[in-house]
Amino acid sequence: MLSEPPASALLADDTLRADTALRHFRRGRPVLWQGDFHGARQLLTALGRRTNSVPLLKMLLIPLDADYTVPLRRAPDVRAACTEAFGPPTSPKALPLRELLGVIGAHEWRVKGIEVPVLGAKIHPHYGVFAPIRQEYLELAGRAPFPTTNPTAFDIGTGTGVLAALLARRGATKIVATDVNPRACACARENLARLGHDVEVQQRDLFPPGRADLVVCNPPWVPGRARSDLELAIFDTDMLDRFLADLGDHLTPAGEGWLILSDLAEHLGLRTREDLERTIARAGLRVTQRLDTRPRHKRARADETTSLWRLQMARSRPAQ
Ligand SMILES: C[S@@+](CC[C@H](N)C(=O)[O-])C[C@H]1O[C@@H](n2cnc3c(N)ncnc32)[C@H](O)[C@@H]1O
Repeated sequence: MLSEPPASALLADDTLRADTALRHFRRGRPVLWQGDFHGARQLLTALGRRTNSVPLLKMLLIPLDADYTVPLRRAPDVRAACTEAFGPPTSPKALPLRELLGVIGAHEWRVKGIEVPVLGAKIHPHYGVFAPIRQEYLELAGRAPFPTTNPTAFDIGTGTGVLAALLARRGATKIVATDVNPRACACARENLARLGHDVEVQQRDLFPPGRADLVVCNPPWVPGRARSDLELAIFDTDMLDRFLADLGDHLTPAGEGWLILSDLAEHLGLRTREDLERTIARAGLRVTQRLDTRPRHKRARADETTSLWRLQMARSRPAQ
């Protein structure tokens, strides 16, 4: 987190050893780096071999001048990256090196973009927005049959706007995309405009008003509390349940919902398949088809399956 340089910090340079730094961190004293930037990176690597405690690793701080210049030898120019992540600079600050590296990485993704073969285009993620690095879920959305030709569509929790773009490319019309994260809305608007798709992006919780023939949602996959905007894309307390509970109120009579979900939470013992099927049935929905795929991403579990659940309203809702 960007903060004022803490008065209690130890000013240190390349002579500081990892074990000594760790002793200071454990006593609650951060280090404000004054040495060579690459020396700080090496120290962070050495610390990472000694602990995997994120709060401790975040105690190695890099100073930032009032214009986001890093006043250290061999420091990269991070002004554009920091402005994208934190807004215009105001006064001298300090930032954990670990976070600064994330900010730099996000800037590189944003500039370079991520190739999305199923879209035949690149998507440019912003800092703090779920990036479509895994692509198997996009392939599912690329091959699932539409309920009707040129359906109207909602994309709930749009992130970079990648699914909305894919729906538009496949011929969906009058697409409305939503997200609670303002960074995601800005990012989606930018991507969709760049790709020439006329999609309305609304910053709101879940559904826009009205109904659509196709309502798509790729909710965060891990049940748990998001502790920051960045984690809104990963952890979910109730988005999945609320999406399912209210989906029927936003579908046209022959409309269809697509729920895109990995079974990671099931493998982690955080949800059972029965829980999910019960929630679907309780919402008065029925599964018309499930398309499965195995993630190929190198950090995915070998036994993980990603699914696209095609959902329609059941003829009668079960008694509550
Ligand atoms: C796993 S990401 C998916 C992003 C994008 N649809 C994709 O498939 O790449 C989940 C998204 O849902 C958004 N989100 C979380 N809770 C939400 C809510 N209650 N209403 C709308 N969007 C929400 C997050 O900000 C995040 O962008």
